[in-house]
This record gives sequence, structure tokens and C-alpha cells, in this order.
Amino acid sequence: MSAEMTGFAYLIASVLFILALRGLSSPDTARMGSRYGIIGMTIAVGTTLLDPSVVSFELIMLGILIGGTIGTVVARKIEMTALPQLVAAFHSLVGLAAVFVATAAFYNPEAYGIGERGDIKIASVIEMSLGLAIGAITFSGSIIAFAKLQGLMSGNPITFPMQHLVNGLIGLAIVVFVIMLTSVQSAGVFWTLAALSFAIGFLLIIPIGGADMPVVVSMLNSYSGWAACGIGFTLANPALIVTGALVGSSGAILSYIMCKGMNRSMISVLLGGFGGDPGKSVNVSMLNQNAKSGAADDAAFLMRNASKVIIVPGYGMAVAQAQHAVREMADLLKAEGVDVSYAIHPVAGRMPGHMNVLMAEANVPYDEVFEMEEINHEFSTADVAYVIGANDTTNPVAKTDPSSPIAGMPILDVDKSGTILFVKRSLSPGYAGVDNPLFYADNTMMLFGDAKIMTEKIAQALA
Ligand code: TAP
Repeated sequence: MSAEMTGFAYLIASVLFILALRGLSSPDTARMGSRYGIIGMTIAVGTTLLDPSVVSFELIMLGILIGGTIGTVVARKIEMTALPQLVAAFHSLVGLAAVFVATAAFYNPEAYGIGERGDIKIASVIEMSLGLAIGAITFSGSIIAFAKLQGLMSGNPITFPMQHLVNGLIGLAIVVFVIMLTSVQSAGVFWTLAALSFAIGFLLIIPIGGADMPVVVSMLNSYSGWAACGIGFTLANPALIVTGALVGSSGAILSYIMCKGMNRSMISVLLGGFGGDPGKSVNVSMLNQNAKSGAADDAAFLMRNASKVIIVPGYGMAVAQAQHAVREMADLLKAEGVDVSYAIHPVAGRMPGHMNVLMAEANVPYDEVFEMEEINHEFSTADVAYVIGANDTTNPVAKTDPSSPIAGMPILDVDKSGTILFVKRSLSPGYAGVDNPLFYADNTMMLFGDAKIMTEKIAQALA
């Protein structure tokens, strides 16, 4: 393949990646977006394999076989609720790949056409060391994020005295070593830079608390993109540069959107030690109160006689895989003339878009699904809010207690509706560990049980 053809194919792949991102921004177009992404990636990989500098295919094929098999098995087995830690684990591999490429380029620059051992072009050294540093930070940071999300280590912030000062000094040392590497291209400088970067990745993530982990995963996504972008320069591969920049910038934008959704400042999340401390804010006086509970028949009666019902899905619906039962229940209500819609909080569940994916899986019509800001004003005119497995995202403590881990997080105003039906198994708090006073409100009826079983029973009663 000529250089012009290669450049053109990479351009097509890059355009397809941009179309993929655009498609993925709405459930209507997400399938098409995925297809664009698959075609773009096939073109990019195919073009790279046809590069004349690729002299042997055995190792590449072996890599594709091993990686492809592991990826397929993991993707088929993984529970959707465990996706955040899977994503963190995959990011760690992107970071490690960037470290490997930088190492290969450092020890064998001739193969990359960037100079000779000990005399690598300055621009290439800077690109390579950025790929190395960001890749190493992404690797160790993602490993910690994985361990926290998987419950292999405590999700609570781990802090120590003068943490920010230590981090700041290591950050400064990284800059100094990048500059040093441009003049002293010794293995000692290279590996010290790598070690410092691995250390800062680890230190940056340990102080981040459970409630802020989603933002961290999305930030690591962004870092992995920038690491790939840096390495794209080392490999002189435009497709990798563009793809890395797309992942880097979209990850950063997603982190910003999530910070806004949780009312977090990006700086305080990144500096750490700001997240939730589960259990701390459970209000003991609340536990002495009585919550009213009801049965499926009561819920069916209330909703059948309502003119407007808003369904609020949350993490528990995902755990119970209750989305199909919810859709069935909604269909029966609509058949009775009830106006049914769905309210989606930006951080409901455990990953961005979690609820939208489940709703789409159950073929809920997109025009019935509304984002928080679109529907929040509607609760005051709703007869029933059917809160299924959601908790933190409805907790008014976010508005009233500035010391709470969820303080300032915008919530779905379910308390404004005529009756609130909470489907969950107990009075336990949600992810942030904060007790929810709405369970004890006069207009609340608790429906204790598994989200799927309870919803199926309600549907039976309606039918
Ligand atoms: P949560 O506040 O986590 O509450 C989920 C509730 O579901 C729990 O209180 C639990 O109560 C109930 N539940 C669990 N299994 C159930 C089952 N089988 N049947 C019925 N109920 C079940 O959920 P949310 O309102 O969706 O809020 C999400 C939280 O996760 C926020 O704090 C958010 O910041 C955080 N977070 C979000 C993300 C993203 S990006 N979406 C990622 C990580 C963390 P019982 O045990 O009593 O049943």
C-alpha cells in the first residue's frame, strides 16, 4: 500500500470514529454509531497490517488470537453491573501498551526511524516520554480503580499527611526527568521517569473515595486516550494520534458532565480525599422511625387509579434485571390510560448511561425516557413515582445536609409526587451509604422485595 493510500485509509477510519462518537450520543443512533466504530477499527487495523514495514505476521496473529479470545470470553461473561471495573481493567492494558511501545522505541529507535540509541531526536524523546509517563499513570491508577470497584481494597479514601505536597513534588520530578531525557538518554533516567509515573498514578487514585470513582474511571479513560495519542506520534501513526485524541477529549468531557451530575468540582475529585465515607452519615434517629410498607396489590391499585406515573430506575433494577418486567408493567398501565414516563438520573446505576442501556434492552420507547432536567418539574403533577432500586439519586439529604457525601448532588424530585413507591429489599442505604429520609415520609409506601419479583407481581395484579 502506498503512503498516500495509507494516509487516506487512516483518514476514512478517523472520520468513522468521529461518526461513531456522534452516533453513541443518543440511544436512537447508538447501534449505527457502534457499526461505524467497528468498520473504522477494521480499516485502521487492516491498513496497519498492510504497512510494508510489517515483515512478519506470526506474532501479530498470536497477539490478536490471545487478546481477542480473552476479550470475547470476558465480555460475554461480565455482569453489566461490573462494567466499571472491567473498563478500569481495560484502561490499565492501554496504559501498559503505551509503556511497552515507549520502551521498545527507547531501546530500538532505528526501527521507528526516530534516531539512534542514545541519540534520539528531541521531538521524539518528548513524545515518547509523554506516552511513557501518561501510560504508566494510567496503568497504576487503573489497577487501583479496579481493586476499589471490585472490592479487593477499601473504597474509602486513603490519605496521609502532606499527600498533596508529595504528589506535587513527584509531578515536578516527572517534568524534570522528561526534560533530562532529552539530553541524557540513559536507561537510568528512562526507568526513573517510568517509576515516578507508576507511583503518581497509584498515589493519585488511593485518596479518591467510593462516590467519586465513576469520575475517576472516566478520567482514566481520558488519560489512556492521551497515552495512545503520545505513542501515535512515536509510531508516526495518524490513526492512533486521532483516535487517542478523540478518546482523550471525550473522556475529559464525560468526566466534566459526571462531575456536574454529582455536583463535584473536577479539581477536588482529582486531588482526592473528597469521596463518600459509607456509613458515617447514617442518621440513627431515622432508624427508629417506622416506614409504611405495602404489597404488590396495593401498588397495582394505586397506579391503576393514577393518571400519571413516573418510573425512576436505579442500580437495584439493574441488579435484579427487572427492566423487562418494568416495561411489561408500564404497558399494562398505558393500556389502562395511565400516562407513563421514565426519569433517568445522570449517575443512576454504576456507569454512565447504565439505565438508558437497560431501558433500550427492554425496548422501552425512547420518547418515554427523560433525562433529569427534562422531567424533574413533572413530579409535582405525577400521582405516583415508582422508584425501583434507586436510592441516592432521590435522596433529599443531598439538598439539606452540607456534610453528607452526596451534598449538592442534584436529585430527582420524587418527593413532590402524590405517592412514592420504593421497591427495594430493605431500608439499607445505597452506594453513598446515606440513609434516605423519604422512606419514612407520609406519602411513601415501601414495597419490600426483589425489584423483578415485585414488579412481576404488580404486573400480574394489573393483568
Ligand atoms: P443506589 O443509591 O446505589 O441504591 C440502589 C438500591 O438498590 C439500594 O439501596 C438497594 O437497596 C437496592 N437494591 C439492590 N439490589 C436490589 C434488588 N435485587 N431488588 C431491589 N432493590 C435492590 O442507586 P442509585 O439511586 O442508582 O444511585 C447510584 C449511586 O451509585 C450514586 O451514589 C452514584 O454516585 C453511584 N455511582 C454511580 C455510577 C454511575 S456513573 N452511574 C458509578 C458508580 C457509582 P436494598 O439493599 O435495600 O435492596
